[in-house]
Amino acid sequence: MPTKAVALLVAAGSGERLGASRPKAFVTLAGRPMLEWSVDALRAAGMDEIVVALPDGEPAPEGCAGVPGGVTRSESVRAALAAAAPSDEVVVHDAARPLVEPTLFTAALSALEGADAAVAAAQATDTIKEAGPDHRVAATLDRSRLWAIQTPQAFRRSALERALDVGDDVLAQATDDAWLVERAGGSVVVVPSTPANFKVTTPHDLTVAELLLSSRSSG
Ligand code: CTP
Ligand code: MG
Repeated sequence: MPTKAVALLVAAGSGERLGASRPKAFVTLAGRPMLEWSVDALRAAGMDEIVVALPDGEPAPEGCAGVPGGVTRSESVRAALAAAAPSDEVVVHDAARPLVEPTLFTAALSALEGADAAVAAAQATDTIKEAGPDHRVAATLDRSRLWAIQTPQAFRRSALERALDVGDDVLAQATDDAWLVERAGGSVVVVPSTPANFKVTTPHDLTVAELLLSSRSSG
């Protein structure tokens, strides 16, 4: 009997590049801790089994389970997955993407029909060139085939569990979980998203997110 997907919200990073006085996911954004925007979006998509990977000393949002995060992002994912109730499917989302629209979660889950993983991604709009350390351009890539990968990322749970069953050294190399699935021989598809689902990384990103979410909450 298939069970509803569980959501893993990774929020355990320190937010070094943001440089705030507390962990990034708990910085106030348009009046509330950043991670609560993602919790709302998950619930609006019908996902209410949510496990949050947390930094030391911060609480889980109301109605969510919390686990201590890991040293790297993928270790945080592994810790949250280990604490999640049984399910056939899993959605992983970064608390640092508070602008996510609920429909992106459902689109990623639907795309699992034909793959082990389905990842939100924005098609490249800039021309992308490859350059060496000396800044000399080596190649101009075919933009139509390039995608900037985001979260949410949806997985068949068995595929994600297998992919995460590797050493911490491999986990430390992963900038997303879908790469671990690719590495384990699994199939991954992209689900078209937009640059609007950006990751809050720098103070500039926080200012932009604040403007967008403030205008959203005032209707
Ligand atoms: N994350 C996590 N556990 C870690 C590292 C990161 O749960 N050990 C989470 C972050 O909280 C964030 C997401 O992974 O929601 C994406 O990571 P990133 O944007 O790099 O956030 P930070 O690692 O917090 O930021 P920085 O790299 O600037 O320190
Ligand atoms: Mg980081």
